[in-house]
Amino acid sequence: MRFRRRQPLVSPLSSRYMSEPDLGDFEEEVGGPDGGTDTGDAEKEGFERMEVNPPSTDGLGVVCAGDGIAVGNDPRLTAYVTVGNRSDVRVGRYLVVPYPDDEALLTRVAGLRYAQQFENDDANEIQARRAMKADGVDEADYKFLASLEPVAVVSGDERRMPDRVPKPNARVERATDKEAMKTGLDIPSDGVFVGHLAVGGRKVRTSASPPTIDYRLRDEYGDAEPLVFRHTLIAGGTGSGKSHNAKNILRQFLGSRYRLDDARRRPAVVVFDPQNEYAQMHDDPDVDKETRRRWEAEGIEYGGYDDTTAFVPDVAGFDYDPNHGAPQVEFSVPFEMARENPWLLAGAELSENQTMVLRTLLTDYFRDADEPTYDGFSDFVMDPANAERYIESGRAHEATYNALKRKVAENPIFGRVFDQPAPAVTEDKILDRFVRPGALSVVPTYHVTKSRAEEVVVLALASLLVDNKLSTGGRENIKETPLVLALDEAHNFLADTDSAQGRVIKGKFGEAAKQGRKERLGLFLITQDPGDIADPVFKQINTRVALNLGDEDAIRSLNIPTELEDRVPYMGKGEMVVYSPDNSEPVEVVGLSDPVTRHG
Ligand SMILES: Nc1ncnc2c1ncn2[C@@H]1O[C@H](COP(=O)(O)OP(=O)(O)O)[C@@H](O)[C@H]1O
Ligand SMILES: [Mg+2]
Repeated sequence: MRFRRRQPLVSPLSSRYMSEPDLGDFEEEVGGPDGGTDTGDAEKEGFERMEVNPPSTDGLGVVCAGDGIAVGNDPRLTAYVTVGNRSDVRVGRYLVVPYPDDEALLTRVAGLRYAQQFENDDANEIQARRAMKADGVDEADYKFLASLEPVAVVSGDERRMPDRVPKPNARVERATDKEAMKTGLDIPSDGVFVGHLAVGGRKVRTSASPPTIDYRLRDEYGDAEPLVFRHTLIAGGTGSGKSHNAKNILRQFLGSRYRLDDARRRPAVVVFDPQNEYAQMHDDPDVDKETRRRWEAEGIEYGGYDDTTAFVPDVAGFDYDPNHGAPQVEFSVPFEMARENPWLLAGAELSENQTMVLRTLLTDYFRDADEPTYDGFSDFVMDPANAERYIESGRAHEATYNALKRKVAENPIFGRVFDQPAPAVTEDKILDRFVRPGALSVVPTYHVTKSRAEEVVVLALASLLVDNKLSTGGRENIKETPLVLALDEAHNFLADTDSAQGRVIKGKFGEAAKQGRKERLGLFLITQDPGDIADPVFKQINTRVALNLGDEDAIRSLNIPTELEDRVPYMGKGEMVVYSPDNSEPVEVVGLSDPVTRHG
């Protein structure tokens, strides 16, 4: 049980905090004692006119009983908001309703409305004309009502489901106590930093120092498994901030330790990088001292990561153009890998029959070849004597065989991707370096992007890692290192297709996702098409982070609570909703506006 000091949910207004220097961009933040920005004439007017019950520093209004007050099955909670506070109350914002003892109900504003104070039909010509000339309404003539959605009862450092009903006329206040809000929203105090709690894209601000609320993913032991091994999906449209935020989060993992076989080990992070962005994590970001100081104060890992290596696939005819200072190691994919993974040659374009015949050919070829190579296999398939043998014996239709000649044996891409001069990825000297505690290994594929070569490289290597991680006889360095496998543009590799290759991929990665928790293998998928991620993989994903997504089907495919879903199309750059039910209540978060390593 996490310990937190017991205290009232709303801490007294601290004047010191108002003048506290260098806590960051205040204008962006909402929620604190000074959360209301435009409290001008309306407020003054409000104070004068409503002198019977002037609002206190933190009170916004009271719970009213007119529509009933209920928690439980069909919660109903309405607050009357006093005139001076109206412009400050927005949908999504967090408010608290203290109980007479030191417990409090944390709520979220679910809806806002005006209602008439006095019986008066204002739908008439005279009233409308008069209103158009006036420069504002007389707020006091109207009720301003907020429907509040109960989130949790906060009792010191504990939270419960909303099981107590607030009294009529109970005060409704801004939530300004950081620890209490974390408790109410169930946000862990420790763990991997993702961003700051936000509402409508603006950081929630409390009376603590720093005033922002850090959102972290549980990364500790005891009864909770580190969430990284229960898989993460980052979804968002192009330019929404996926890579920027993915890099920031991956950088945090590199500073963590995870238990594996009774030892605490640093993870290896492997990134498949179609846009040539992640090897830049080797380099320092261009940020000022002030920002660094703030990151330090919040325990955020930052700075170029020294132990970064770019593992560059050697594909004939494609040159890699580095944009970072990380050391580069070239590797190639040996055709030998097709022995265990015949599907590497069977892209989506092979039919069922063709796939079956291909498997037969590969089996026969590998059985007899001393030094199997793609060229050797190609010759084997193209050899007229072999063709005749397979066709005559009825093991292959002529059309099928000819299709394989064309699609596999004479496929120029396979000739360029397999058996290149660089050391094979299966060699010790590559694999030992590739997966080590604390290693960030980036596989840039930009130079071969959108070609079949990219798919072969990514799938061959990712499978190699997954197979070693999951099989009992896997390589020691892979089995014994906690591994985070990140795939940017993941929909290109884990698509829900029904091809022979698609089925193998779905099976393999679905299994990896299922066993990852136990074996310490975390998938970290980044995509603009979450709907395209194969279902067996998708359903194992615990943490879903959605940045801005315009496509309705894509949003729906995320399968997140409606209240979060509704916000996704409105997210600005770096704004995200986080749905991680084992970690916290669903929340909105804004990622760091600066990259903690170099980006771009
Ligand atoms: N929280 C943020 N605040 C400000 N700018 C951001 C934020 N997150 C991302 N960006 C910027 O937005 C741009 C696009 O982000 P990027 O991560 O490259 O997009 P994509 O979703 O296509 O991967 C980059 O210049 C990035 O630095
Ligand atoms: Mg990107």
